[in-house]
Amino acid sequence: MLARAVLLRLADSPGIQRFVRRRGMSAGFARRFVAGETLEETAAAVRALNERGITATVDYLGENVTSRQEAAESAACYCRILDFLDAQRLDSNVSLKLTQLGLDLSDDLACENLRTILERAEQYGNFVRIDMEGSRYTQRTLDLFYRLWPDHKNVGVVIQAYLYRSAADVERLIADSVRVRLCKGAYSEPREVAFQSKRDVDQNFVRLARELLSRGRWPALATHDERMIQAAIAHARAEAIDASRFEFQMLYGIRRERQQGLVREGWRMRVYVPFGTQWYAYMMRRLAERPANLWFVLKNLLRR
Ligand code: FDA
Repeated sequence: MLARAVLLRLADSPGIQRFVRRRGMSAGFARRFVAGETLEETAAAVRALNERGITATVDYLGENVTSRQEAAESAACYCRILDFLDAQRLDSNVSLKLTQLGLDLSDDLACENLRTILERAEQYGNFVRIDMEGSRYTQRTLDLFYRLWPDHKNVGVVIQAYLYRSAADVERLIADSVRVRLCKGAYSEPREVAFQSKRDVDQNFVRLARELLSRGRWPALATHDERMIQAAIAHARAEAIDASRFEFQMLYGIRRERQQGLVREGWRMRVYVPFGTQWYAYMMRRLAERPANLWFVLKNLLRR
């Protein structure tokens, strides 16, 4: 927990950020978690997954943009990704963050940028997942989602099991037939809003996963935790929930053999494939989840 807090703090340090970013992709360690800096590299990664029976969700890295122009550029990039996925016949949807579309500037701006992306996705019968960011954005993210939901059904949200509020959010989303991705939550959150111990977070994850499996519309269970995976499988078997009614999701580069193993066992697997030059904050969150990966990073950084 301490290592996690320190790494999440370091993620915000401009000096460390400059040092790591200078060496990152060329030193190779970012490549473990990020498909590449270009769409072409990403397409190759998605194709390789599809060939192994795994679907994908492509994430154009970036968050907390500070100008309308950057927000518009992110939206345009997502439209290009959707064009590209369709042209290349790749089995992948997209995941995005609202702060990447201008949420820090205004709700209306993010909403209009998202609407543009949803309309483009509709042309291809594709789907857009809104990632969930830190807790100060939770309500605004759900509100913005509900503004677009009456006109657009090709969009879903993410719920974080570490938040106390999530059980109530899941109930509402189930009642409205919204597609939910359930994850544990990747940010550093205070005890006023979030469970602090792994045991409590895990317990809530299992509880919400069962609700979503039994009553939700095509839920996604996003976890690398074997205990969470086994709990979901046990529940699906006990309730005779067919494998086609939900999917597991994991992050690119994490537990690759297990991703394949779940497909072999007959379950659906989607991998979250991030790409782009803005990989720093994303990578630091991955390290905070598993400080053991830090050795891998340090070795690569210091080797040069
Ligand atoms: P946990 O971190 O408890 O780890 C359990 C076990 O999994 C570990 O013991 C280890 O075996 C393995 N493992 C976990 N992380 C690993 C790593 N980095 N390297 C190697 N092994 C590892 N969060 C968020 O706040 N908003 C979001 O929108 C999303 N979206 C999202 C999409 C997808 C597809 C995934 C898989 C995850 C997210 N997350 C997220 C991140 C999520 O909230 C969480 O931080 C991570 O998935 C880590 O939690 P786990 O459930 O994997 O278990």
